[in-house]
Amino acid sequence: MQTLTITRPDDWHLHLRDGAALKAVLPHTVRQFARAIVMPNLKPPVRTVADAAAYRDRILAAVPPGQSFEPLMTLYLTDNTSPDEIIAAKNSQFVKAVKYYPAGATTNSDLGVTDIRKCDRVFEAMQQVDLPLLLHGEVTDHGVDMFDREKVFIEQHLIPLQQRFPNLRVVLEHITTSDAVQYVESASHIAATITPQHLLFNRNSLFQGGLRPHFYCLPILKREEHRSALLQAATSGNPKFFLGTDSAPHPRNSKENSCGCAGCYSALHAMELYTEAFERANALDKLEAFASFYGSDFYQLPRNSEQVTLTKTTWRVPDTVPFPESELVPLWAGQDMAWQMT
Ligand code: DOR
Ligand code: ZN
Repeated sequence: MQTLTITRPDDWHLHLRDGAALKAVLPHTVRQFARAIVMPNLKPPVRTVADAAAYRDRILAAVPPGQSFEPLMTLYLTDNTSPDEIIAAKNSQFVKAVKYYPAGATTNSDLGVTDIRKCDRVFEAMQQVDLPLLLHGEVTDHGVDMFDREKVFIEQHLIPLQQRFPNLRVVLEHITTSDAVQYVESASHIAATITPQHLLFNRNSLFQGGLRPHFYCLPILKREEHRSALLQAATSGNPKFFLGTDSAPHPRNSKENSCGCAGCYSALHAMELYTEAFERANALDKLEAFASFYGSDFYQLPRNSEQVTLTKTTWRVPDTVPFPESELVPLWAGQDMAWQMT
């Protein structure tokens, strides 16, 4: 039997939600990952160190007994975030980054930033104390085509930001285009996370025989040439590219809806999905560093010491998993997978 044993991985971009939803999804992440960077887009968002401390306690209380998991917290940047909050975040030890959502770009981003330049004092403080900035890298202008929003964000906002703050460490989250790959490769002080859906699927999956809401996430899936550039980057051994699932649970009825929510649920089987993508690229030897080394190196945290094993065995992704008052449809529900993590 073919097996693959690697250092226990971490998820460097994850949505855990709160309350009963948190309790439903957290065990899936804990089964696979030792740590995760937890997104702050709750309602209301996690804006202060006090909010992050309370949310962290709720996450820790939801970890199944006998298992261990370390939530790495983030703050949600608004027009009103103060430089003092950044210093407090750095001093807290448990806040590891600050997340920038352009206002209106995605789920629960209404209180996000209306103009990136409004945050320059905050970026100055982040650069000073060396707290990384995590970017949802899409412009929100309705005049910009949906499929071009990442590329235009890089040109209009990211390049000028890096010119203003050359030592600020940045993660361009869930990259979806060859433009993002090229930019991250060429610039300094920047890394990127890549999701399983952007490695495995292109935008045709959204329309395969009909409209497929469970493939809809933001940034949206792009053309095949972009998927292939992302797979090439993820399997290249370049430490600037590392794992971040962006697993984002939404109840089934909110996805299968006349105005469906953005987000793919992959926490159930994230490592199996990544392994599938890496195997298809003949790059299983590059999986461990992508999943378990480069993220912790970027965040200047120790690598995990435990190991996990993936076994080559066929199993089927369930059609649904339980979720409060509804259910979740996992990414690639009903598909046969080739690897299973034990
Ligand atoms: O698809 C997405 N879902 N993209 C995001 O940026 C947010 C996320 C969510 O929170 O549901
Ligand atoms: Zn996200």
